[in-house]
Amino acid sequence: PTWQILPKFWQGKRLLVTAGPTYEDIDPVRFIGNKSSGKMGYAIAEVAADAGADVVLISGPVSLKASDKVQTVLVRSAQQMLEAVQQNYADCDVFISAAAVADYRVATPNLQKIKKTDDQDGMTLNLVKNPDIVKWVAEQVTKPYVVGFAAETERLEAYARDKLECKKLDMICANSVGDGKGFEQDDNALLLMTKTQHKNLTNAPKSRLAKSLLAFIAECLVEAKK
Ligand code: CTP
Ligand code: CA
Repeated sequence: PTWQILPKFWQGKRLLVTAGPTYEDIDPVRFIGNKSSGKMGYAIAEVAADAGADVVLISGPVSLKASDKVQTVLVRSAQQMLEAVQQNYADCDVFISAAAVADYRVATPNLQKIKKTDDQDGMTLNLVKNPDIVKWVAEQVTKPYVVGFAAETERLEAYARDKLECKKLDMICANSVGDGKGFEQDDNALLLMTKTQHKNLTNAPKSRLAKSLLAFIAECLVEAKK
């Protein structure tokens, strides 16, 4: 049972988790964001802390409150999330990137509220690509065990496996989204993949999924050390 297995591995381990969306400001009253409640990342952080892990949670804007056992760093943008990760990843055993990071940010956010004009029916925003946080961690020479998520609306397994390989992750959690699935839900289903292992987690509350995911990571890490 996971309540026995989890503390056995996670007791005293250091875990870094990102959660929630990032908001990229357009002007003082508008932003570009992702549909993400942060529930999955917060559940992972809480379950790991309950199992005795030392947990740092880096969270984008969400309406959740983290457990007192979790050290939480609140950020807004992808840039800020990257900086917080860079300050915290070094002595971690495992990094789980559950955040829905905005892929692009506004090149030059307006200092004042943008006013609509009468003479133009459309408007164009100039966007630039954000840094890929999980990829950055996976590129470091000394690095934790790196677990990413893949949110997909189609070709779940193929796209997720591409991300596992391209970003040089140790594990990917593939996650079907859209159509009322995944984002902002209490339940979800996950397909966990490493280079050699596969595990299907059927629809369950995110706290249950968090336990199963942390147990699978433990299994894979113990296996890797043999
Ligand atoms: N991720 C990240 N930094 C980014 C974008 C994504 O750390 N700038 C992480 C997410 O936290 C997740 C993984 O990368 O763990 C995959 O995110 P996803 O949005 O599914 O994939 P992308 O690589 O951004 O590709 P796309 O959105 O085009 O599918
Ligand atoms: Ca993305």
